[in-house]
Amino acid sequence: MSEMDDVLRYLETVHPAPNPLLLELEQHGRKDGIPIVSRETGRFLSVLVHMMQANRILEIGTAYGYSTLWMALAQPPIGKIWTMDTDSNRTDVALSYFKRAGEDDYITTFNQDALELLENFQQRNLDIVFIDADKRQYRDYLDLVIPMLKRSGIVVIDNCLLDGKVLRENPDDETITAMRDFNEYFLSHPQLNATILPLGDGTGIGARIE
Ligand SMILES: C[S@@+](CC[C@H](N)C(=O)[O-])C[C@H]1O[C@@H](n2cnc3c(N)ncnc32)[C@H](O)[C@@H]1O
Repeated sequence: MSEMDDVLRYLETVHPAPNPLLLELEQHGRKDGIPIVSRETGRFLSVLVHMMQANRILEIGTAYGYSTLWMALAQPPIGKIWTMDTDSNRTDVALSYFKRAGEDDYITTFNQDALELLENFQQRNLDIVFIDADKRQYRDYLDLVIPMLKRSGIVVIDNCLLDGKVLRENPDDETITAMRDFNEYFLSHPQLNATILPLGDGTGIGARIE
């Protein structure tokens, strides 16, 4: 166990336990082998939503709705989340949790490829866009969503560090290469003030400045 593991364990003990539905979703995701954000990333999203009073959120990559629910539970009463995933079976599971949480009226799900959907997505003036889908398409997602953000709106990106794999160049691995390229593109994007935090699997956060 590294010192960082000890730090994370300590931090876990001092935070209050998450909402029981979030705990259930963590177990459900683990049992079914569904990749979801880390609990600390979920908490971070929740704080961002509260801080910004974010009532217009777009999410790319719903899975079982774990990250969606962290954000939904932190939204003001009139909040709205649009979330998409190509896998309708996963969305059905997500919907069952949104319903149990009383959040289903505020969350719209789509089952369509993100790039296709984003090309025609009409919403603008978004507070937050959270990207957590096909890592090879992150750059295209970013290009499509920046114009949808309000000025000072933020884009949050999961998996920027790919479990540390981005540290080692690997030309044979398309996902690692794409993520390394994406990180450089994201951090020097002229329309963003962006950084990557060593939180969860590497959390990018960029505010729209132009
Ligand atoms: C890492 S999971 C999302 C986890 C979720 N954000 C959470 O933390 O609870 C990524 C999801 O993106 C979906 N996905 C992958 N490629 C996609 C695409 N091109 N368009 C839409 N969804 C896609 C997958 O089906 C998968 O459920």
